[in-house]
Amino acid sequence: MSQWNEEDARAEIKPHAAEPGGLMPALHALMARFRYIDQAALPLLADIFNLSRAEVHGVVSFYHDFRRQPPGRHVIKICQSEACQAMGSRGLTRHAMQVLGIDFGDTTPSGDFTLEAVYCLGNCAATPALMIDDRVVGRVDAKRFDALLAELEVQE
Ligand code: FES
Repeated sequence: MSQWNEEDARAEIKPHAAEPGGLMPALHALMARFRYIDQAALPLLADIFNLSRAEVHGVVSFYHDFRRQPPGRHVIKICQSEACQAMGSRGLTRHAMQVLGIDFGDTTPSGDFTLEAVYCLGNCAATPALMIDDRVVGRVDAKRFDALLAELEVQE
């Protein structure tokens, strides 16, 4: 992971430049490197893939996986799909929003946490599920959520 800069962005995009449909893997590579798609990447991608900026913007804004702002130190994604909803993910989401004081897509003022919606984490046998950074956690209720948050705060 690194701070946005054009040189590294070009290096991430380059291996996909000649691929048919290379825009999506290039965007994923940028996400893996910077954790978001900087506004400055749009003209770069448009130029390399011979697309208009509007076309690139359309793709980036269509997929909610592509963040437009740098996230907080930890990203918490709560599953909003059916199996998780049936087991209480709405209540868990309300609790998380209240505890963190933010909505989906926002980052706490401390820069510690970004909260996002996700649609199935492949953990439907242990719902409701969430993902903290790269770790999927199942059967999360409000109490477990608070414990997970406390764990992260201790690690800080
Ligand atoms: S529906 Fe939530 S993990 Fe699959």
